[in-house]
Amino acid sequence: MRKPLMAGNWKMHKTIPEAIAMVKELKPLVADVKDVDILICPVFTAVYPLANELKGSNIKVGAQNVYWEPKGAFTGEIAVNMLLDAGCSFVIIGHSERRQYFGESDETVNKRTKATLAAGLIPIVCVGETLQERESNDTFKVIEKQVKDGIKNFSKEEAEKIVIAYEPVWAIGTGKTATPQQAQEVHEFIRKTYSQMYGNDAGGKVRILYGGSVKPDNVSELMKQPDIDGGLVGGASLEAASFAKLVKFNG
Ligand code: 13P
Repeated sequence: MRKPLMAGNWKMHKTIPEAIAMVKELKPLVADVKDVDILICPVFTAVYPLANELKGSNIKVGAQNVYWEPKGAFTGEIAVNMLLDAGCSFVIIGHSERRQYFGESDETVNKRTKATLAAGLIPIVCVGETLQERESNDTFKVIEKQVKDGIKNFSKEEAEKIVIAYEPVWAIGTGKTATPQQAQEVHEFIRKTYSQMYGNDAGGKVRILYGGSVKPDNVSELMKQPDIDGGLVGGASLEAASFAKLVKFNG
């Protein structure tokens, strides 16, 4: 009932020509895929050219961040309607790299998520614990706070549209994937927390992606877990061949 979503987060990689070349290669490799939503989130400058290149295809384009004000004197920021205008349908919000390097907090995550939903785009809200938090047995406490504070005060209808990405910080870019069991127990906990916040319907409908060193050789075991509904992928989404393998995780 939950349609899987395989999302590539390209982070700060690829010029416009490089981005176009990648999706030209990717399109035919995934053209026959109907049962998985496919998303690429490039750097801002590549959003519009990619959205044009992907018109009429089964690959959607998203952004990696957004500001909550609709316009104004906010040098360096971008508004949701501008992303919509450029062809985006999704926005990644609160990625751990933004929390770590750019002062993102649960409060700003909440504001960005509100603005994103209000404009009709789908937010992908990222949560995840650091290695230190995991080692001191604080994983569930940290995740619960990020979900309860970052995704608070929405209607049930809004809550169902939100996508959550669980990305343990220690697994990002390290080659150290969470085991399917480690990921599943946190995904299950997130769904339970969300059900308490928004009811069992929303809890059952919300898509929860796993991110952190997802690769072609570990994707199918992760995707077999009952509460894992897709991936948010960095490194392995940069090459068409490997990203296509992730999209086709079930063979
Ligand atoms: P990697 O897949 O490179 O570990 O990155 C994960 C990530 O941060 C996706 O948002």
